Amino acid sequence: MSTTQYREGAKLAIVGAGAVGSSLAYAALIRGVARRVVLYDVNGPKVRAEALDLAHGGQFLPEAVIEGSDDVAITRGSDVVVVTAGAKQKPGQTRMDLAGSTVALMQKVIPPLVEHSPDATFIMVTNPVDVTTQAALKISGLPSNRLFGSGTVLDSSRLRQLIATTCDVAVGNVHAYVCGEHGDTETPLWSTATIGGVPLTEWERTTGRLGQAERDAIAHRVVNAAYEVIEGKGATNYAIGLAATRIIESVLRDERRVLPVSRMLAGWHGISGVCMAVPTVVGRDGAGTQLELPVSDDELAQLRASAEHIRAMSEGLGF
Ligand code: LAC
Repeated sequence: MSTTQYREGAKLAIVGAGAVGSSLAYAALIRGVARRVVLYDVNGPKVRAEALDLAHGGQFLPEAVIEGSDDVAITRGSDVVVVTAGAKQKPGQTRMDLAGSTVALMQKVIPPLVEHSPDATFIMVTNPVDVTTQAALKISGLPSNRLFGSGTVLDSSRLRQLIATTCDVAVGNVHAYVCGEHGDTETPLWSTATIGGVPLTEWERTTGRLGQAERDAIAHRVVNAAYEVIEGKGATNYAIGLAATRIIESVLRDERRVLPVSRMLAGWHGISGVCMAVPTVVGRDGAGTQLELPVSDDELAQLRASAEHIRAMSEGLGF
């Protein structure tokens, strides 16, 4: 690798300098995921100020070049492009309520981003992320491993955190997925969840915790988590910024983490033709193998319903 290439390192472009985009930039810089981090937003003064504010902390961060611009050319040659731009949910609004305006925005922003970074991996975060991903995938013409959505990585983190708190264990020892739509039809996969390798069903038998009532309460809090935060502070940003950073790290470091990202399905448990979150190996080639983990009949029925919910909205908007 030439000195110039070595010095340049990986380039991360973040589209949208709002609460989510700037939190994502902050998390990515603290984690040192890329040597160059650029922010692109149509609001020039805002994006330049966000980049300046981040750059002023440079001494306290892993070495990185930080820039912001309202010219899409700043994204040129990126290795990963993360799209966060779009309207934010208002209190009481569902993510799907944003679908029409979001798809229209994708038709505008995706082509120039792909033109400037034809070899990049694209990660969609903008809600409703599954519909956004489905539309952006078609608009871009990219293969489905190189354009996928953040899916339910954040929702799975919320589930694991609540299980850990309920069972008084470290969240790192909880393995549990939320799959399906990143939204009201998402599905916690209790049948494959474990704590320290112990199936949750065993956990209930031996400790009396996590019975059906507790699981229902946890599932309700996970599905409604965003509404709760939006009610209080007007948006969610930190956790989605961290979740998206985890996905970016897995791509740029080729970590091959299994993450529930939203990629076009092609027969996963018989489901095809829709972008939906299922456990997926994420590495340098983007979204790879989708693990067809065993699910209960009830979970499969919920996942199929979630897929149809996404499909109906996507097809209703022409994607
Ligand atoms: C949330 C947003 C990212 O779930 O949809 O917080």
